[in-house]
Amino acid sequence: MHVLVTGATGFIGSAIVQELINAGHQVLGLARSDAGAKSLIAAGAQVHRGELEDLESLRSGAAAADGVIHTGFIHDFSRFTEACEIDRSAIEALGAVLAGSGRPLIVTSATAVSHTPGRLTTEEDAPNSPVPRVASEEAAAAVMARGAHVAVMRLPQVHDPVKQGLITYLIATAREKGVSAYLGDGLNRWPAVHRLDAARLYRLALEKGSAGARYNAVAEEGVPFRQIAEAIGRGLKVPVVAKSAEEAGAHFGWLAHFAALDMPASSALTRERLGWRPKGVGLISDLDQARDFESRADGVAAARAS
Ligand SMILES: NC(=O)c1ccc[n+]([C@@H]2O[C@H](COP(=O)([O-])OP(=O)(O)OC[C@H]3O[C@@H](n4cnc5c(N)ncnc54)[C@H](OP(=O)(O)O)[C@@H]3O)[C@@H](O)[C@H]2O)c1
Repeated sequence: MHVLVTGATGFIGSAIVQELINAGHQVLGLARSDAGAKSLIAAGAQVHRGELEDLESLRSGAAAADGVIHTGFIHDFSRFTEACEIDRSAIEALGAVLAGSGRPLIVTSATAVSHTPGRLTTEEDAPNSPVPRVASEEAAAAVMARGAHVAVMRLPQVHDPVKQGLITYLIATAREKGVSAYLGDGLNRWPAVHRLDAARLYRLALEKGSAGARYNAVAEEGVPFRQIAEAIGRGLKVPVVAKSAEEAGAHFGWLAHFAALDMPASSALTRERLGWRPKGVGLISDLDQARDFESRADGVAAARAS
């Protein structure tokens, strides 16, 4: 297939580009800069110049493709709601071009949009969390209603030794504060997947996914937050401490909401429907190899000593 990939230069998108090319697909990668275009060409993809806010560039890219995988996103958490609304418009623009054609559109969401503390969320659970990211799934439903073949990919913390989703920001917080923290007993759970397993699942969803399906790219259903905090403590060589709910904002800042969440997720239906078997190492193994800790732990130790 000739596949348009938005976010093709990103952490997950670049792995998807490689996965698609290795499987014999042709990739048209969205790039907004010369550097992005260059990296796509080096990866063996073709380049489609465009911007998430330039809807015409998205429409022309989708018109040239047999299918679209949408992973582009503006990760500026200081204007997160606006970024989610830009995502809504982008999905609506891509979906409008594909409607009625049977050509698949895979959009990206997060497992956090649907979670019920104390039980595993599944692919059957509709979004139930009042988070701005719900916009992505609302847009998917809207274009589906207009006849587009859309599937939603819900991502947990996606990791390799370079990046680990929101945990990358937790590491920065622990470095800044000189302690790695969890809330209460730290038994609240975050699901996780290795970056390459997530990329393979996007390909399977593109090749054999069903319209209207939600897929949970979950390899580990729920890693206790305390274990994550302990891995960060080991990596940075800083103490690991429990914080109360009242102390959460002062330590975690904008991450306080997430740090409190218990959001275990299942991928049983995804595995059954797409024959997906995650193979990558687990989150804690990747954290124990995290590049973020290399040569920086000394800096933290020095900062704490001064
Ligand atoms: N990583 C995770 O653990 C995780 C967890 C849950 C959900 N997700 C979701 O998964 C998707 C991919 O995440 P990621 O970690 O791969 O993100 P990322 O590494 O930040 O990549 C974002 C991609 O979007 C592109 N982009 C940003 N602003 C753009 C704009 N204005 N116009 C065109 N392209 C633009 C970036 O291009 P440049 O290279 O030019 O910057 C890059 O290719 C996102 O929807 C994200 O919210 C990720």
